[in-house]
Amino acid sequence: MSTKLIIQADVTEGKINKNIYGHFAEHLGRGIYEGIWVGEDSSIPNTKGIRNDVLEALKKLNIPVLRWPGGCFADEYHWKDGVGPREERKRMVNTHWGGVVENNHFGTHEFFTLCELLGAEPYICGNVGSGTVQEMSEWVEYMTFDGESPMTAWRQENGRQEPWKLTYFGVGNENWGCGGNMRPEYYADLYRRYQTYVRNYGDNKLYKIAGGANIDDYKWTEVLMQEAAPMMDGLSLHYYTIPGDFWLGKGSATDFSEDEWHLTLKRALHIEELIEKHGTIMDKYDPEKRVGLIIDEWGTWFDVEPGTNPGFLYQQNTIRDALVAGASLNIFNNHSERVQMANIAQTVNVLQAMILTEGQEMIKTPTYHVFDLYQVHQDAERLSSHLESDEIKHGELAYPTVSTSVSRGKDGKIHVSFCNLDHTNEVTVDTELRGATLGTVSGKILTSDKRDARNTFDAPSDVEVVPFANFAEQDGGLQVTLPAMSVTVLTIEEG
Ligand code: AHR
Repeated sequence: MSTKLIIQADVTEGKINKNIYGHFAEHLGRGIYEGIWVGEDSSIPNTKGIRNDVLEALKKLNIPVLRWPGGCFADEYHWKDGVGPREERKRMVNTHWGGVVENNHFGTHEFFTLCELLGAEPYICGNVGSGTVQEMSEWVEYMTFDGESPMTAWRQENGRQEPWKLTYFGVGNENWGCGGNMRPEYYADLYRRYQTYVRNYGDNKLYKIAGGANIDDYKWTEVLMQEAAPMMDGLSLHYYTIPGDFWLGKGSATDFSEDEWHLTLKRALHIEELIEKHGTIMDKYDPEKRVGLIIDEWGTWFDVEPGTNPGFLYQQNTIRDALVAGASLNIFNNHSERVQMANIAQTVNVLQAMILTEGQEMIKTPTYHVFDLYQVHQDAERLSSHLESDEIKHGELAYPTVSTSVSRGKDGKIHVSFCNLDHTNEVTVDTELRGATLGTVSGKILTSDKRDARNTFDAPSDVEVVPFANFAEQDGGLQVTLPAMSVTVLTIEEG
């Protein structure tokens, strides 16, 4: 079989929510502290305590939404410890992540400043596991209420006159695990209760996200939808790509075998089955697809880099990660009728990061470049398309060689993202364009000839986006030849 893509350019299938390109930043390792927050007195150039190099790099990605403060940290976080004069803020132990001291210098005000500087919408995750209803309710009041109240007065005393605009609010995180080890029935009741007091103040309308399932825990989704669907706007799902065993060894981020290469990609593609199966359950209770599936943690999870704190989840990032990112984002785009948001874990220095830092230095990872390339899909119209792909076979494993998604941007141009997951062979994709006339075509690509290719502090530009022109017109469509291990975006202007 050869690989063939049919694009029906005059049939749209709804909008690709830009929030699919969302991010997640937790108080974990060097994710917030060092990676984003260095403090106003730091020798690292910063804006209001946030390092400028990271800010500039992230701004270029047009991050639509940023989830914070966790993760597991969220269900141990007490927001009141993180407001007021910084030197007076309570110091606590970050028990989940390395047992280090959390000085609470990055709190609510600093997070909103970060979002403002990035132009990203905030997505706050509240504490159900160890927090009270009152605490959650008062946090929302502190952030969004404009009238006379103790929380408004306190916010103003702390330097912020106007309330902030907050849309996305998560009611707990992984409440089946680190967020309280609850059964779905119990969490569903708690969700109903907590969300009652998460109020809409003035014209600030919250989009409430219930803590969802881990991987293939379909019972969790069933119970949550049955018991609480009318009270939620979104239900989350967490899925990490791990080529090994979570407890016995996940595998190295850079030193991996061919078997691990294949297992990684095969497991990354598994998210499509999860979306479809959780989505089918959601359809039963919500056939109009009002409730969004919010994949608010996804990405690769490998063993930490040798010599680093095991609780800090610091890992390098290669072209393999780029392919996981590209193929996952294609899947989210192709299921945009249900997937309303996704947040890759995590932005800086943690898991599948966009950026790695070391002291003053900063590098962009291959995953960063995929998010950069794929920006064209944000809020674009998904176009009808059909892919028939060759398969990669490795032992018992089989999976498609090529992954694609197609959209029409606000600029009217057609954007096609392709991943060639084969690490040894190029692949030719016969691309048929129906319902449009081919005009100018241009392309960009991220690729390498080494399957562990990465950027390092010594060689920060080994994996970079370059122009791509390996395509030719064919019967009104295109013959596109994708190098091995590549993520490509073609832009087609109609003629
Ligand atoms: O992203 C790291 C951790 O993974 C998060 O804190 C938790 O929600 C998940 O288990």
